[in-house]
Amino acid sequence: MSAISYVTTPIYYVNGEPHIGHTYTTVVGDFLTRFRRLDGAEAYYLTGTDEHGEKIFQAARAAGLEPQAFVDRISERFRVAWRLLGIGHDDFIRTTEERHRAVVRQILQTVYDRGEIYYDEYEGLYCVGCERFMTEKELVDGQCSDHQRVPEKRREGNYFFRMENHRDWLRGHIQSHPGFIRPEGYRNEVLSLLSEPIGDLSISRPRERVPWGIGLPWDDAHVTYVWFDALINYVSALGFPQGGLFDRYWPAAEHLIGKDILKAHAVFWPTMLHAAGVPVYQHLNVGGYLMGPDGRKMSKSLGNQVEPFALAERYGADALRYYLLKDTVYGQDSSVGEKFLVDRYNADLANDLGNLLARARALINRHLDGTLPAPVQETADQPVIAAGEALAARVRPLVHDLRFSAALEEVMQYVRSLNRYFSDQEPWQLARDPARRERLGTVLYNVVEGLRVASVLLEPAMPEKCRQLRAGLGLPDATMAQITQWGGAPAGTRIPAEAPLLFPKAEMAAEAVPASSPAGSAAAAPRPGAEPASAPVPTATVPPVAEPASAPAGDEISIEEFGRVQLRVALVLAATRVPKADKLLQLTVDVGEGAQRTVVSGIAAHYAPEELVGRKVVLVANLKPARLRGILSAGMVLAAIGPDGTLKLVEIDPQLPPGSVVR
Ligand code: MSP
Repeated sequence: MSAISYVTTPIYYVNGEPHIGHTYTTVVGDFLTRFRRLDGAEAYYLTGTDEHGEKIFQAARAAGLEPQAFVDRISERFRVAWRLLGIGHDDFIRTTEERHRAVVRQILQTVYDRGEIYYDEYEGLYCVGCERFMTEKELVDGQCSDHQRVPEKRREGNYFFRMENHRDWLRGHIQSHPGFIRPEGYRNEVLSLLSEPIGDLSISRPRERVPWGIGLPWDDAHVTYVWFDALINYVSALGFPQGGLFDRYWPAAEHLIGKDILKAHAVFWPTMLHAAGVPVYQHLNVGGYLMGPDGRKMSKSLGNQVEPFALAERYGADALRYYLLKDTVYGQDSSVGEKFLVDRYNADLANDLGNLLARARALINRHLDGTLPAPVQETADQPVIAAGEALAARVRPLVHDLRFSAALEEVMQYVRSLNRYFSDQEPWQLARDPARRERLGTVLYNVVEGLRVASVLLEPAMPEKCRQLRAGLGLPDATMAQITQWGGAPAGTRIPAEAPLLFPKAEMAAEAVPASSPAGSAAAAPRPGAEPASAPVPTATVPPVAEPASAPAGDEISIEEFGRVQLRVALVLAATRVPKADKLLQLTVDVGEGAQRTVVSGIAAHYAPEELVGRKVVLVANLKPARLRGILSAGMVLAAIGPDGTLKLVEIDPQLPPGSVVR
């Protein structure tokens, strides 16, 4: 693998909110970049926003805003979105920035000076959604199939780029570079497109019709066609043509796109570069479409849209990232939805990964004084050790071949093998026999080391959770080079006594995830009395903020009265059913007092005992003790009652230590 990596996403149109399609490509790019960086590459990741053109101009007008004010606002929503999803791009380019405009004008001038541009009158069918003229052949029943609308007939004076002159060269290049466009199906599609004349490309629009764009350097009455402008972002962000970033990263350029913008990237862009005398990119990676849970194209009217930010808020950004990578086959269309996400989360993350971590931590803390011992390996340990060592070597080529789901499945299979090892070796039995202490230490060491190995390979998908996983084992971050030798977890490591449950079991929300956007989600939703960071744009779907219901005057209590109620963070250590009582669970909780407390709670119909262990809840700590079914209950756990009577525990930030005061 090349030691330099330069990955780009498409720059997103700012005429609407960030959605699941944008999210998908951006997560894939982030995964690839993080993977390569962990594997020792010098990696650079670019995303940004596409802000010129007729479509944006119309959207700004519809919103009653000046185009610049409008694009500033929506571009910011993309930045916020990527922050919420843990995207670690190195740069965020906007086509309205001067650094970009200057490069567009410079490349246009070069191409013009080389005699590659001419002026002509043109009549054709224009789809504003695609921002391009369509050929009759591309239409389905006279409509653009991507935007379901009849293109407008337009006649206007345009400048044209002699694209057709580069067709033979491009065909030759694709034929002699098998990995230029991948997966292969898309390569064949482009080759077939190039087997017939492709014509020349109109690269300007009269300013009087589209005033929002970059003026042509030699004729300011025309602005640059939005695609000619936008594609150049991939080099303008690197400071083309000056050395530095451009010299370092451009030779490794790899674009990630969705299949709908294949022609622009596979035909317009390489021919533009060729005409300007700039070497072309290395790879064009083409992703399929994400469809609604019903397998149909997502649309507002079908109500099958999947809202990424509401999902991230509910299940965590890393869970969403993992799900998108694991449950799609890159290059193909895939159905996505909340139910699928919850199933994947519970199976892979809560059960296979999170549980193993919690069990290993608990045993080390209980029986080995919270210290990782030095292992003394036996033959029975070989399968796990050997598999761990070979794992990175199996995962690497899969990622290289864009088989992200298969790569993650390799790691999860390894995690499952660790689980089998754990249950076969029965460390909880070993713990009962003082003579088998060394064996207990070895088994737990191997599980911890295996989890460390898995955490590094899963980190590109779940950066935050994998760091937390290692922190829960007292282990530092590591690169891929640091997991190839078994035994990297240092014996003697102190395992923290407290750690948040990594992946609490998820339940499918009762109602569908409401339509929301990054700025419309709880993270940034305007709260009463607080100014929202930026005013919501008219296209946003910001959930209404509920007015607090005012209590009838007679029921009001003073702050002093409320202050008498001692609310505390309680960690559930154990939970069992109360015999012959359907509704009751007996909980053992830690409220930071040294001694543990017993609390009886009426939540048995809503939670299984094993779901509760490790959770942090809110306890009324100074409630007069009461005897329930013969058990003295010292406190009350708070829960909310849903509209259908279901109880949901009031949970609290797992970082807070038991005993923290809640007020
Ligand atoms: N601005 C252009 C790209 C210019 S790149 C020089 C553009 N922007 S876009 O915002 O409309 O779309 C960006 C990407 O999102 C496209 O690659 C498109 O394929 C992708 N997706 C939009 N909806 C999608 C799905 N439902 N599923 C997967 N990706 C899809 O095009």
